[in-house]
Amino acid sequence: MTTETRTVTKTSQANEAGQPERFNLLARLLHWTMAAAIIAMLFIGVAMMTSLTWRPELLDLHQPLGIAILLLAIVRLVNRLRHGAPALPADIPRWQVISAKASHWVLYALMFSLPLLGWGVRSAGGWPVTMLPGVTLPPIAPTHPVWYAVLRDAHGLLAWLLFAVVLMHLCAALMHAWVRRDGVFSTMTPGGLYHRYRRNRK
Ligand code: HEM
Ligand code: HEM
Repeated sequence: MTTETRTVTKTSQANEAGQPERFNLLARLLHWTMAAAIIAMLFIGVAMMTSLTWRPELLDLHQPLGIAILLLAIVRLVNRLRHGAPALPADIPRWQVISAKASHWVLYALMFSLPLLGWGVRSAGGWPVTMLPGVTLPPIAPTHPVWYAVLRDAHGLLAWLLFAVVLMHLCAALMHAWVRRDGVFSTMTPGGLYHRYRRNRK
């Protein structure tokens, strides 16, 4: 049994320190939309590398979806910096608080670097990044075999790092939801689930 340490009143949306009690609607919408898109991208990427038959179609999907993730990541970061994040419960060990914060910033860094590296791979290979038929993005790296090799390796490596961090993040989120039951999970869930959690704690 754990103690709920987040200060919440019915009328207030923030605690005494000015931290919100949960992530705002935009943050929650972006979190779950982008989680689905990023997980899909990891599978599309791997499938693209293993199926010659499907490669052209998958690549046509991989590029615009990856650029959409980059644009949404900008909106998400601005929203996060402006509105902050809820405090973690006070009884969580310090190393876990540090790891949680660090892993969130690593996830942000990967949400920016992976699409940029992918765009770089296409540029270095001398191919356009096609968003829609006839709509292409300008190159962001010189067309050169060495640039191509380095960027391609970096894109692949960081994609595997993202996969590993997402798995750890998923385990941590489920540990909060099912083992600790400390309200951390409900800060990222739709309002209905959040309010049910609050009622059950009373
Ligand atoms: C969050 C965004 C992205 C994720 C998670 C992602 C993930 C992946 C993965 C898992 C692979 C397979 C890597 C391997 O097995 O070596 C891959 C390959 C690739 N990705 Fe992405 N990617 C993203 C964004 C992009 C973007 C925006 C572009 C281009 C505009 C792009 C272009 C490519 C290309 C060209 C390859 C194949 C490289 C080759 O032929 O070796 N990616 N991606
Ligand atoms: C590609 C997949 C995912 C990415 C990139 C991602 C990224 C993030 C980031 C950066 C945060 C910090 C809040 C923010 O600033 O936006 C966060 C929080 C959170 N995520 Fe995810 N997430 C992913 C998938 C998931 C999944 C699958 C779950 C659960 C099943 C989950 C549950 C949560 C929860 C509960 C929080 C709030 C934690 C807290 O208050 O510290 N996430 N996520």
